Amino acid sequence: HGTSKINPQGHLEIGGCDTADLAKQFGTPLYIVDEALVRQRAREYVESFRASGLKFQVAYASKAFSVMAMCTIAEQEDLSLDVVSDGELYTAIKAGFPAGRIHFHGNNKTPEEINMALDANIGCFVVDNFIELALLNALAQDKGKKVNVLLRITPGVEAHTHEYISTGQTDSKFGFDLGNGSAYRAIQEAESLANLDLLGVHSHIGSQIFEVEGFQMAVDKVAMFAVKVRDELNITFRVINLGGGFGIRYVEGDTPLPVSQYVKAITDSIKNNFSAAQYPLPEIWVEPGRSMVGDAGTTLYTIGTSKDIPGVRKYIAVDGGMTDNPRPALYESKYEAVLANRANEATAETVSVAGKCCESGDMLIWDLELPEAKTGDLLAVFCTGAYNYAMASNYNRIRRPAVVFVKDGQADVAVKRESLDDIVGNDVIPARMQQQS
Ligand code: LLP
Repeated sequence: HGTSKINPQGHLEIGGCDTADLAKQFGTPLYIVDEALVRQRAREYVESFRASGLKFQVAYASKAFSVMAMCTIAEQEDLSLDVVSDGELYTAIKAGFPAGRIHFHGNNKTPEEINMALDANIGCFVVDNFIELALLNALAQDKGKKVNVLLRITPGVEAHTHEYISTGQTDSKFGFDLGNGSAYRAIQEAESLANLDLLGVHSHIGSQIFEVEGFQMAVDKVAMFAVKVRDELNITFRVINLGGGFGIRYVEGDTPLPVSQYVKAITDSIKNNFSAAQYPLPEIWVEPGRSMVGDAGTTLYTIGTSKDIPGVRKYIAVDGGMTDNPRPALYESKYEAVLANRANEATAETVSVAGKCCESGDMLIWDLELPEAKTGDLLAVFCTGAYNYAMASNYNRIRRPAVVFVKDGQADVAVKRESLDDIVGNDVIPARMQQQS
């Protein structure tokens, strides 16, 4: 998929770059991002929304993969940006991302984070709870500002990977509940606060969703709520944000729809619901993260040791693992992989891919079919663009890999590999300990 292919040397090539060359040049483990594929995904969203005729913003959920180069691509592709911490906000600002297109999320934004976002003049705060409503209003007032807000509501549509359940009351740490009246009270509260400009509401039903029905159900509920709020409170929503959650294909059996179909289902549903109520069509915002970058990322490892337990299993170990991809350990996520330097060879054995951390749970892939793997071979694990670098850690004091963006035969570092000095960079030995010896 994307620009990946097998070149005449039998090597995996991405963005016109031979992965064996990338390993030599940049070392492993290495995150490789297919820039053309990221841009293609961005354009699929933007063009699908354009086709709907509705006003829209596509906000890339930067939590999936927040680095300055991604913010630059998002800006160039006319995306907005969803940030959830001072770190993500700082990354965007440092990359020169236009602040007016930044949306700030989170269920426990600190006063410092809110002030930083107010000073940056970001486009919108997605307010999660009553304490934040009051805090944001007070801090905006201190600065003499009036800020755009959406209220995050919990619509009672709970999306699981393959199914979704409509629940009367939702057990979630996020947002104002629609079912118990707290969303309604939050609208009244927001409207009464002088330094907030209430644009509308936000709903996010989950992640890695394949079917459109969950999104349609969320639109139905939000629309019903919008009509009630208009009729009873005389408040009209100008913006409806439907969050992210659009699924991608990690392994065979995953059945995401093309981006255009999710967008069409949402925009059709908005048009039907709001037109039927003679309600001015609101602007639609979405926040895709995984589907913007997930399948554009590949992690390249070098295979080191192996352990064959006859009749039981063969393990091969790579030079990374749960530190660069915690998803298998956290969520039992499945991945596909190939030998990048022998991508044209037939599979010959079943192996399980272990990481190098000192714990048994550090397994990347169970029961993978590969050609007979040898020490020094390169393993390419696909679909690691989202929630991999973003969730990487220094557990075992392992250094985070470098990130390179590849396009048209060019490979450029977007994040440098951490050095051993980076590892101890924030360490301090208290002076009193040194005096003891
Ligand atoms: N908007 C909101 C409010 C969210 O909470 C999320 C994801 C998104 C948008 C983007 O969702 P996406 O399009 O990426 O599905 N670490 C987990 C995923 C956590 C998602 C959290 N929220 C994983 O690795 O699967």
